[in-house]
Amino acid sequence: MHNIVILISGGGSNMEAIVNASRREDWERNYHAKVAAVISNRADAPGLILARTNGIAAEFVEHGRFASRSLFEAQLADAIDRHAGSKQPVLLLLAGFMRILSADFVLRYEGRIVNIHPSLLPAFPGLHTHRRALESGCKVAGATVHLVTAALDCGPILAQAVVPVLDGDTERSLAARVLTLEHRIYPQAIAQMLQRQCAWDNRGDASKGFA
Ligand code: GAR
Repeated sequence: MHNIVILISGGGSNMEAIVNASRREDWERNYHAKVAAVISNRADAPGLILARTNGIAAEFVEHGRFASRSLFEAQLADAIDRHAGSKQPVLLLLAGFMRILSADFVLRYEGRIVNIHPSLLPAFPGLHTHRRALESGCKVAGATVHLVTAALDCGPILAQAVVPVLDGDTERSLAARVLTLEHRIYPQAIAQMLQRQCAWDNRGDASKGFA
């Protein structure tokens, strides 16, 4: 079984969309993959409760308790690898995970870390994407699923989708419209990756990866 680990920092609605898709589409049977754990860098992330309600192991590694990024990331990697079982996680999914990961950490899971960002990258990387899209007078907004590299919000794009920006939109209304889109494209992109991985597994070609 390929174990997927999801990292969150907040509400966890993307995480829940992925868990729901994994059950609806029977990823265990079809792709030999399952969501094994959800890990938050915040103890009070509502997504932790949501994960447990969905029967998924959930824990936190609070970044604020560590003296340095590397100590935090070492603890985070321990937690991830513990849930990954005998192997590394097949995929490490960032779903509203709001910490920047170091190049060393990204290298450790190279080609297996995926993120969703609430803009049409390469437009508006970083924070306050919806505010910046509104301030720029954009007529469309959207979301991007991409592989994570050491450069922030810059990795190869796996999926994108677009929504209109409407007259009178606020940050909140635009964010809500984009989030609905995220819940559709993130699970779809992951299912496609698992499908490819499964095809390579079936051919016995262990050298292939996601990258
Ligand atoms: C989502 O909009 C996600 O794209 C964004 O945080 C939100 C998390 O919502 N992520 C980023 O901004 C990462 N740079 P959720 O916790 O309900 O999934």
